[in-house]
Amino acid sequence: MNNPLGPQPLRLGVNIDHVATIRNARGGGFPDPVRAAKLAEDAGCDGITAHLREDRRHISDGDIERLIDQLKVPLNFEMAATDEMLDIALEHKPHAACLVPEKREERTTEGGLDAAGGHNHLKPYIDALNNAGIRVSLFVEPDPRQLDAAVSLGAPVVELHTGAYCDARQVTREAQLERIIVAAVHAGDLGLECHAGHGLTFDTVAPVASLPQIAELNIGHFLVGEAIFGGLDSAIRRMRALMDKARADSTNQRSA
Ligand code: PXP
Repeated sequence: MNNPLGPQPLRLGVNIDHVATIRNARGGGFPDPVRAAKLAEDAGCDGITAHLREDRRHISDGDIERLIDQLKVPLNFEMAATDEMLDIALEHKPHAACLVPEKREERTTEGGLDAAGGHNHLKPYIDALNNAGIRVSLFVEPDPRQLDAAVSLGAPVVELHTGAYCDARQVTREAQLERIIVAAVHAGDLGLECHAGHGLTFDTVAPVASLPQIAELNIGHFLVGEAIFGGLDSAIRRMRALMDKARADSTNQRSA
């Protein structure tokens, strides 16, 4: 069953982790990720994403507290399924929590969560977050098996990992995009809210944004990098415009 109400509006969540990465390179207080989050709000984002890692390599506990206090848009709290992170989520009650795999040695979140193989480990965390009224999403590979597992775990949202699509060379990118299309349709059929993100840029965002099942894109590293050249405000506005155009074009094509 694909969404009977037709295509959903596409939200942009801005991930501010790497503003904190730059701050932490010098150990001081700037650039401040909370200032970046407020600027992102003013530039028209629909939500802020922040990943509190076990090693606190970018976002800190204090950043999460200030985001909760100061944001007007919803906070999507990215977290590993650990007791420490669950306690922090339950203390702050963000709008949403996105469960991600976390390896200490990785540079970024490499690959999705094994929702299928990790059922017994994940289930109590998902139950506790659901019971607290926090909207749970699972960051998974665009693999229908993982979406079936999200349903059996009781997670209402999945976020499809777009890293392999973004990293692929042109020849193999089509095949990676096809995986995302198949997964987005399957998510719609299962009644899951479908998000996507990781590695998206001005060049790669449109084909993903055009998929009617996708309700939200979460984008960080590229926007923070672009901010060096033209400012964060302009990078976010351009990304938003590309997303909106891709979505409008695909809606028009389908209704023509
Ligand atoms: N979504 C999730 C679940 C992520 O872990 C990340 C990276 O932290 C992103 C989206 C954003 O990826 P990027 O920073 O490459 O845009």
